[in-house]
Amino acid sequence: MNPHTPARLLGGLTPAQFMQRHWQRKPLLIRGAFERFQPPLTIPQVKRLARRDDVESRLVWRESGRWHMERGPFSRLPPAREPGWTLLVQGVNLHDDGAAALMSQFRFVPDARLDDLMISIATDQGGVGPHFDSYDVFLLQGSGRRRWRIGKQRNLELDPEAPLKILQRFDPAEEFVLEAGDMLYLPPAYAHDGIAEGDDCMTLSIGFRSPSLEELARGMLEFASDSLAERPPAALRGHYRDPDQPAVDRPAALPESMVEAALAAVSAVKFDPQLASRYLGCWLTEPKPEVVFEPANPDALPDLEHNWPAAGVLALDRRTQMIYRGKLLFINGEVAPVPAGAALRTLADDRRLPCDAPASARLKDEERATLQEWLEAGWVHYLA
Ligand code: SIN
Ligand code: CO
Repeated sequence: MNPHTPARLLGGLTPAQFMQRHWQRKPLLIRGAFERFQPPLTIPQVKRLARRDDVESRLVWRESGRWHMERGPFSRLPPAREPGWTLLVQGVNLHDDGAAALMSQFRFVPDARLDDLMISIATDQGGVGPHFDSYDVFLLQGSGRRRWRIGKQRNLELDPEAPLKILQRFDPAEEFVLEAGDMLYLPPAYAHDGIAEGDDCMTLSIGFRSPSLEELARGMLEFASDSLAERPPAALRGHYRDPDQPAVDRPAALPESMVEAALAAVSAVKFDPQLASRYLGCWLTEPKPEVVFEPANPDALPDLEHNWPAAGVLALDRRTQMIYRGKLLFINGEVAPVPAGAALRTLADDRRLPCDAPASARLKDEERATLQEWLEAGWVHYLA
């Protein structure tokens, strides 16, 4: 996606303008972001997903003034004619190619920040109550109508009694009714409440992720600690020594030299961009726990090592996550055994690599062998 080409999806803004003016800053309402929008799944298909135990789903409703939430899987749902309930299904992009393709239209934001596509369906007056999210979100109306009220309030105190995030007070400043194809972007911590008007209300949320700074620090420390166990640096071989320790008359006092030795030992761990990239690359591409790749039948695969196909494409499985930094390449929670050469970077960026692309012709033997392994693992597919 060219960052400088105006996009209907962004109401005529270029992705570059959107990122400068709205991203993380202020809402944007886009009427007709998609022309004659057809959601990737029908309402019955969303309900069917909610029956599965490898799909995260929630049911939300309000009864006698109190909010209720139940987690799926759901073998039965309330009747469609009963007003006021919402079913939310998370990670739909992992289960449906159309949903994954829709999400990929938002790849003007780095993959490292894109999280998932959630679909909610609601009967008349259904909604999940006034709340805020910690992340940016695009709320795309799939079918039916939803009235959104939004406001940039400072007071984000939540109702401690409610089983889901509900604001104690809600002071909306604006209100819009969204119809199929309309979309609303909200930055993090922006209060909002969407209520279905009529039945068959479907909303698709393109969600982002942003680790808390504390999470980043903990993750880095854990990663550094694991790397240390695998490959301890030379400076950390051996034990604490104190040939100069004098005899003491206060044996309970902790020796200063030991404090200094502990600090010196930890400073031998290099917190450099290399370590941060390895940590982030592995962590960001780690498949969600419910993702299980099915190994391909080796007999049905081309032999990339010895007989590179003249036509066709290699395509990442919709659940495969692949990112790179410099020559470091990460895929599904692992550091790739080969550097991020031109062809592999194209595969990561475009999620496909034509076999007759000039870069494919220049693939080295070890890159072909690695691609073969990914084909066998079901991470990459060959489409003739
Ligand atoms: C919904 O889809 O019903 C709620 C989405 C949201 O408010 O974030
Ligand atoms: Co929300």
